[in-house]
Amino acid sequence: MNGPVESDACRNQGGTAQRNALTTLHTRRLRLEPFADRHLEGLHEMNRKPEVMQFITGRPETREQTAAAIARVQRCWAALGTSWWAFICTTSGRVAGAGCIQYARRDAVMPDDLESLLGNPLEIGWRLHPDFWHLGLASEAAARMAAFAFETLAAPELIAVRHPDNVASARVMDRLGMRYRGLESWYGETLATHVLSRNDWTGSSPSA
Ligand SMILES: CC(C)(COP(=O)(O)OP(=O)(O)OC[C@H]1O[C@@H](n2cnc3c(N)ncnc32)[C@H](O)[C@@H]1OP(=O)(O)O)[C@@H](O)C(=O)NCCC(=O)NCCS
Repeated sequence: MNGPVESDACRNQGGTAQRNALTTLHTRRLRLEPFADRHLEGLHEMNRKPEVMQFITGRPETREQTAAAIARVQRCWAALGTSWWAFICTTSGRVAGAGCIQYARRDAVMPDDLESLLGNPLEIGWRLHPDFWHLGLASEAAARMAAFAFETLAAPELIAVRHPDNVASARVMDRLGMRYRGLESWYGETLATHVLSRNDWTGSSPSA
């Protein structure tokens, strides 16, 4: 499926010239803003929490690591037209979480040539600050991000990967309509992999 992702993405966005658009998305309770320097405090407040990182890297993030992640994400938006958003709670203005539609990769390390990722499957992902858990916000954001992947990027398929013990994330994948495909090698690890094709996508959740 590598070829179709690349050619569809280019055809639907008019090629490289439009890939660098920064797209803000909206849901009932959230504004999804492409990572920017102003999100550093809020993102770090989330990523420094061990319970947030338990099934991601297993280690709380330092402020420097969060700042480096923002810079990496900004390069991805510019080169690829999709990457990570900060989830802004529209009532409080706080950073409630973050999520992505990004080109998945097998290796742990990001390549220097970002455009070499364009043929890879698109991945959807999410994390929330614990103050915002159990409110249905991950599913709400996931539905909107999936719509962006299928409608704007014309993705034929989305994958999601998780640590096999991450039950909460599996529930979000289930609610989105994803199907478990098995353990696969992504980002240099063996991860539970779920998949949703554009044909099987039912649109969006009622709360999105
Ligand atoms: C995964 C995460 C984003 C889920 O966020 P959330 O907003 O609480 O999820 P939702 O409220 O949309 O709930 C989705 C479902 O998961 C269930 N769920 C939430 N937390 C759970 C937990 N700790 N254990 C089991 N189920 C859980 C909810 O009950 C809900 O189930 P339902 O579909 O039957 O109603 C959140 O737990 C988180 O940020 N975890 C840390 C970061 C992380 O692991 N990200 C994913 C990496 S793959």
